[in-house]
Amino acid sequence: MDYKLPRGTEDFLPEVTTKREITSNLLRSIATDFGYHEIETPMFENLEVFSRTSGESSDIVTKEMYVFKDRGDRMMALRPEGTAGVVRAFVEHKLYATEELPYKVYYLQPAFRYERPQKGRYRQHTQFGLEAIGASLPENDAELILQIFHMYSSLGLQNFYFKLNCLGDDASRKKYVAELKKYFEPHLDELCEDCHARYEKNPLRILDCKVDCNKDFFKNAPKIGDFISEESKAKFQTITDYLEEYQVPYVLDPGLVRGLDYYSELVFEIYEKGHEDNGAIGAGGRYNSLVKELGGPDLPCVGFATGLERLIQALDDNHIFDQLDTGLIAYVMPLEKSVFQYAFNVAMHLRFNEIPTEFDYACRSLKAQFKSVDKKKAKFAILIGNTEMLASSVTIKNNETKEQKLIRVEDLVNFIMDELLKMQEAAEKEASHEGSCCCEEHADKDSCCCQDKCACDEHEHKEKDGCCHNGEHCECKHEK
Ligand code: HAM
Repeated sequence: MDYKLPRGTEDFLPEVTTKREITSNLLRSIATDFGYHEIETPMFENLEVFSRTSGESSDIVTKEMYVFKDRGDRMMALRPEGTAGVVRAFVEHKLYATEELPYKVYYLQPAFRYERPQKGRYRQHTQFGLEAIGASLPENDAELILQIFHMYSSLGLQNFYFKLNCLGDDASRKKYVAELKKYFEPHLDELCEDCHARYEKNPLRILDCKVDCNKDFFKNAPKIGDFISEESKAKFQTITDYLEEYQVPYVLDPGLVRGLDYYSELVFEIYEKGHEDNGAIGAGGRYNSLVKELGGPDLPCVGFATGLERLIQALDDNHIFDQLDTGLIAYVMPLEKSVFQYAFNVAMHLRFNEIPTEFDYACRSLKAQFKSVDKKKAKFAILIGNTEMLASSVTIKNNETKEQKLIRVEDLVNFIMDELLKMQEAAEKEASHEGSCCCEEHADKDSCCCQDKCACDEHEHKEKDGCCHNGEHCECKHEK
């Protein structure tokens, strides 16, 4: 028997789980800042929850769902996406009667789709999603997009953009679909097999076809923009006005219809520039009929989900994790067997005081232990030999500055905490460029004559005139 990972799934080893943890912590924290609370729904639901909502003709329902019969003969499905389960829960708990609207929830959970595995496409993937139920205003749409923009930017992505489209309300979409059918009818022979089925069940999805989209007759197909109502147009305009105001990069894509049937009005996808082949890092839109569809009142909604694996791939492509801090603070190094127990106790003391600590159980050579200190990126090496033990002390070495000092064990925790604080303050100062003058002479920063009127490229006042020396005898080495 060959014990192998199922196709299209991944083992997340610690190096990756650290990235997942950092990424999801930030997503969660920003969701909270925007007033979202976490929701968890089951990993599987009655099949109908997904088949009714995603659309009978969608790829998800026709080809990708993991469907099974349970022992009670009920047809169940593993969750292919998060929205349907959230809406089912909202309706089932009658939250529309008790909760203030919009009801805003986020989730971070696995989703399952039987897709052909390739880069960025897995049979089990993880979705971080946001759903605002009972959110009717275009400002809700704009707010969601700004939040997504803020999330990706805060993670360090710089080259992503939104693709947007407006599908209009149900009535305009019906008119449009009728026109599409009329248009594609004479071309039926030229459409792929999937599009034949789409033609019958949901002609809109023909526009989404990756096989047919480059065929000549596609170019002249009717455009949704010619069918949507003035009201939809005005709402869409409000959204794009906000995006302009906040300088959110976007392009309009009249062919964007999305693979799930529940959307109306706004739909969007987010891509990394130059990495479009990896697929969308996130996507979403309005789903105004879904609550009603699942037995609740008529409540318009807007939401989005991002694939954690695709997002982390994008972060990796941008080297965001290259300088990743392992979080390890101390590496305790017993230098001889006779101090093993003493060193063990020091390691325990640090751990019990919430200082992440590794311990060298094998008492290896000094060289080997220092190699591990570097590899694990520990901030301090804690060296312990007989001298240290006899003095109830340790020698602590700062692995960056290489400074070392003998410290009594009883003072060790406070010493480390103080040092960490200093390191953090220095890092924050550097990150904020506070007082960081580029003058050669004023390397000590605070005494810079230019202060924040520095004429160098890196600071705010680039123009000569802003410099306190009027640019004529500025002491900056970047003088212009
Ligand atoms: P979706 O576009 O099907 O939308 O999936 C959302 C995101 O999940 C995608 O943009 C992608 O990043 C990721 N994703 C999807 N399938 C895979 C896969 N096989 N492997 C890796 N990542 C994948 C939805 O699911 C909607 N429920 C989003 C939404 C929420 N709309 C409104 N609210």
